[in-house]
Amino acid sequence: MRKKILSIDDLDDGDLSRLFFRARSMKTQRAFVKNERSVMITAFFEASTRTKLSFSLAALKLGMGVLNFEEESSSLKKGESIKDTLRTIGSLGADLLVIRSKEVVDRGLLEALPCGIINAGDGINEHPSQALLDCLTLLNTFKSDTLVGKKILIAGDIAHSRVARSNYKLMTRLGAQLSLLEPPCFKSASFIPKTVARYGQFEETSGDFDAVMMLRIQKERQGDAIQLRDSEYFELYGLSEKRLRSLGEKCVVLHPGPMNLGVEIEAKVAYGERSLIDVQVENGVYMRAALIGHCTD
Ligand code: NCD
Repeated sequence: MRKKILSIDDLDDGDLSRLFFRARSMKTQRAFVKNERSVMITAFFEASTRTKLSFSLAALKLGMGVLNFEEESSSLKKGESIKDTLRTIGSLGADLLVIRSKEVVDRGLLEALPCGIINAGDGINEHPSQALLDCLTLLNTFKSDTLVGKKILIAGDIAHSRVARSNYKLMTRLGAQLSLLEPPCFKSASFIPKTVARYGQFEETSGDFDAVMMLRIQKERQGDAIQLRDSEYFELYGLSEKRLRSLGEKCVVLHPGPMNLGVEIEAKVAYGERSLIDVQVENGVYMRAALIGHCTD
């Protein structure tokens, strides 16, 4: 049965354990095993570097064929709708469709397609594979199967972040204690309950976090609402070495990328010894391979 993973809610607790186990075993054995030649189609209606490449690399490592739908040379240019484009891709008989869109995806339309589907980020809604790889990175770092007792700070433009929404769901399910740092130039994330601790700047937080996740300002999703210059934003809300020290001596740093250095994060922190950003990218291939296997078994 081809599965559809459009949200973290599409995975039950058994699925989560199997996915983390599968990704970890592939990483340990440096082996991806899947013999039948099935085919994955990527349809990205929005820019991507690491998500698209890591899905493609994972599928190729599993022995699958990969086709990339290219918007620029497609019939969208002849006036075909995205809905008909997706129906056409579904009818081609591929095993799996990996889709990224600027808008929130129409769940009903995707449910009706005969292939497995993985949501690679839809508008401000969800990005389940990113949350899975972020949590895999934390579980591996903490050498644990849960995030119980771990204090995690998510900081930046949370309201417009699908990464934050999926991570809020998954980190909470894994037992983490989340706090938010929402600079007052952004609206507050309504999808996160009011009971979750919220700060307006690093200086208000009270230390000893296990991890901090920095987020990019999603300029494409909020027009010209931000009045601050990049350097002003960094001065007020960016993660500097000094601010990282104030979060506690063992606090590790996550960022889903793409980073804007000198805006939400300083280069010395991004490339520093507490940064897990490169490990997130590496784990993304294993986690996506696990997810592709889950959807096409
Ligand atoms: C994120 C995305 O596209 O949602 N990036 C990613 O997939 N690694 C975050 C972002 O664009 O800021």
